[in-house]
Amino acid sequence: MTLALIDYMAEKRVWFENQLPLVFQGTPVTPKLKQAMLYSLQAGGKRIRPILLFATLTQLGKSEELGLSTALGLEMIHTYSLIHDDLPAMDNDDLRRGKPTNHCVFGEATAILAGDGLLTAAFQVIANDTKIDVSSKCQIMGMLAIAAGPEGMVGGQEDDLEAEGKTLQLEELISVHRRKTGKLIRFPVEAAAVLAKATETQTAALVRYSEHLGLAFQIGDDILDIAGDEKKLGKPIGSDLTNQKNTYVSLLGLEGAKEKLSQQVNAAIGSLREAGLEQGYLADLADYLLHRTY
Ligand code: IPE
Ligand code: IPE
Ligand code: MG
Ligand code: MG
Ligand code: MG
Repeated sequence: MTLALIDYMAEKRVWFENQLPLVFQGTPVTPKLKQAMLYSLQAGGKRIRPILLFATLTQLGKSEELGLSTALGLEMIHTYSLIHDDLPAMDNDDLRRGKPTNHCVFGEATAILAGDGLLTAAFQVIANDTKIDVSSKCQIMGMLAIAAGPEGMVGGQEDDLEAEGKTLQLEELISVHRRKTGKLIRFPVEAAAVLAKATETQTAALVRYSEHLGLAFQIGDDILDIAGDEKKLGKPIGSDLTNQKNTYVSLLGLEGAKEKLSQQVNAAIGSLREAGLEQGYLADLADYLLHRTY
């Protein structure tokens, strides 16, 4: 990870996190629900999806400000997916972003509603943005619904649960990973292309980049569940083994998974090259996935 990328990620994370308290400002939300939503939203996390959106805008010569509400909505949806993913009925985990999971603090019912609230309010935040032209806004909201919903993250999560205790073929696992994680990694890159009015060539290359990146990201997550450090990661290790999940590590072993991770990162950078976008933070972000420890 280059020093420039470390600084860039830290700077953008701080800037983005400073906007989070404003999300529910002035809206009449019942106090316990608001507290539960903000508890998980402000708990930390890498903010990799917002950073991808900002980095793509920068590489396309546009201001990051243009993507702020889209990034906020996306991070709200990602956070809801984590709250629900940790529920006893799903992965049953008690640590997230270095803190007790939402249901451990607020109870299962409120955790479910906090997730529902974040998901729905995400679209409200984007709808209220006056900086984006109406046509791009509609396009982006439709894309986000597809990425997060039954065709995307939610469908991938269902198939991930269905596969517990069974052994998937690699192609089937790729299909789960593409949806449960890949779609919400692809979205910020594609949304930035829409906001920046990128050319068709740029958009196609960026979408290919983001698809490789999404797979690389979940392969890395699978590796860290075995080989990571719980303190750094801020979530339990060994959760996949306990839940008899299909992962890159369970199918290919640790070395096999690392090999696939490196292939996906190289392919992601290769895709950037197709549109002359290989110099900049997007390539650095792909490279960072090879070495991340949390
Ligand atoms: C974890 O996502 C869930 C997956 C989709 C693999 P992140 O690793 O981005 O979690 P945070 O946002 O940094 O906590
Ligand atoms: C879940 O994948 C991805 C989501 C849609 C939240 P994991 O279940 O592996 O994510 P972690 O490891 O709990 O963050
Ligand atoms: Mg899960
Ligand atoms: Mg999980
Ligand atoms: Mg995991």
